Amino acid sequence: MIAGFLQTNPVFGDIAGNVEKASAMITGMRADLVVLPELFSTGYQFISRQEITDLAEDIPSGPTTQRLIGLSRQRSCYIVAGLAERAGGRCYNSAVLTGPEGFIGVYRKSHLFFEERLWFAPGDTGFRVWKTAIGAIGIMICFDWFFPESARTLALRGAEIIAHPANLVLPHCPDAMVTRCLENRVFAVTANRVGTEKRGDKDRLSFIGRSEIASPHGQILCRASEEGEECATAEILPAQAQSKDLNEYNNLFDDRRPELYQG
Ligand code: ACM
Repeated sequence: MIAGFLQTNPVFGDIAGNVEKASAMITGMRADLVVLPELFSTGYQFISRQEITDLAEDIPSGPTTQRLIGLSRQRSCYIVAGLAERAGGRCYNSAVLTGPEGFIGVYRKSHLFFEERLWFAPGDTGFRVWKTAIGAIGIMICFDWFFPESARTLALRGAEIIAHPANLVLPHCPDAMVTRCLENRVFAVTANRVGTEKRGDKDRLSFIGRSEIASPHGQILCRASEEGEECATAEILPAQAQSKDLNEYNNLFDDRRPELYQG
């Protein structure tokens, strides 16, 4: 199966334009799974509660999720995309999974980074894995990578592919994801954004690009540039993530010693 990502540079607040651009990119790709960046439709640097309330959408009834469902049906592909969700008087930094069968599910970011804590409620979905026709897909969002428990939990719950929408500003994640894949024997598709945002009197944020697809054996199957809007794909075999045997004596999951671990 073919997995891919979009690396985009959204214009803050221009949901229609950002969704249109991403749709055109997806339409030009041949992929079974496409991962889009975190908050791909709105941009990242919110500066007021009013702004986030105005730009967040209901999931799945909102226009962005509906558009992704339409694209998944048209292109016969699965899409994971990060967007701002409004639910029950709160806003979440969320990601949806859609497929040819329609809306599949939502994940709400567990570990909020920096000023996200001003605008978003901490995610309450937990780490979720969906068994689909192309493999078992788990989702985590950006800063979740800093907590190895995120990827570990997804792997223990059966994820073969970790879809990882991101808006990375720190430099470490692209290399760290190689370790996350190696220590959990999973594939990961990190879709990051590029460009900068400087809104109101906030400090300028620069996003690092370098979206990538990494394999259970720690290979980088493809990696994007630091600055360009681009898409890329790699052919993967999700079933390769199923065996956790390292050799005839060691198994990644069976050898764990949870009784020695804290928390
Ligand atoms: C991040 O979690 N967007 C850095």
